Amino acid sequence: MAKTMTMCYLLLTLSFVYVATADTQIKVTNNPADKLVAAINENRTAHKVSALTDNPGLACIALQYIKAYQGNCGDVGGSDGKKPPESQFAEVFAPNCGVKASTLAPMTGRFLGCQTKYVHAPEAFSEILIRNQKSLDILYSKNHTQLGAAVTGTDGGSPYFWCVLFSSGKPNQTFAFEGGVAKITKPGCFSGANDECSGASDYRSPLNGMWVLATSVLIAMMGFGLAL
Ligand SMILES: *[C@@H]1O[C@H](CO)[C@@H](O)[C@H](O)[C@H]1NC(C)=O
Ligand SMILES: *[C@@H]1O[C@H](CO)[C@@H](O)[C@H](O)[C@H]1NC(C)=O
Ligand SMILES: *[C@@H]1O[C@H](CO)[C@@H](O)[C@H](O)[C@H]1NC(C)=O
Repeated sequence: MAKTMTMCYLLLTLSFVYVATADTQIKVTNNPADKLVAAINENRTAHKVSALTDNPGLACIALQYIKAYQGNCGDVGGSDGKKPPESQFAEVFAPNCGVKASTLAPMTGRFLGCQTKYVHAPEAFSEILIRNQKSLDILYSKNHTQLGAAVTGTDGGSPYFWCVLFSSGKPNQTFAFEGGVAKITKPGCFSGANDECSGASDYRSPLNGMWVLATSVLIAMMGFGLAL
């Protein structure tokens, strides 16, 4: 009897663990911008600073910010790096996202990176966006309350842009969508809206995965045939 109870308890515990795992996997959707936010928040909490709220309105604006570069990697960073004029936030980026201009809040930091090779979010974070002490100061700053991330490939291909905008506004009340619903603007991916979105070079990988599977089944069958 006691044994049965123990088994039941074990099974129950296991099923809870399973549900908990499934739950956390739902939260980070299959979207490189969401994964970038997760990498930043993990790194902040490991460094004992608070995790930041992922604001989809701010993230959509990060995507418009990337689009302002029109695919010109050379305009990003360096001594001759360019920045969209401040006025674009209210006049272009917010309307494109359906974000109410009256809810815009101050920016407290930004990361922007571009390169021809696609890398996944953790590498984009550690290898492209965090480059020096200044980036670390921005990463760990206590001035931010929220962030939004965006990832694009120009016309679905190279070069790839990664952008993170940080803001000090109140997450619930700033970068609010008209009617409260996120306007998904494609191409490109942005964080916080719970939508699935592929980084451009990801399109082929499920097929590659199937090939690997098909090949290994074939090899296993051949092996079986030989054994006969
Ligand atoms: C946080 O990111 C920085 C910069 O990429 C890295 O040096 C550090 O090891 C990371 N910390 C953790 C706990 O991942
Ligand atoms: C945080 O805000 C203060 C006051 O505006 C500013 O002086 C400081 O440079 C900011 N810190 C970072 C890391 O941006
Ligand atoms: C923000 O929104 C959440 C969920 O909608 C709510 O529980 C919370 O009280 C709000 N916070 C503020 C400061 O309005």
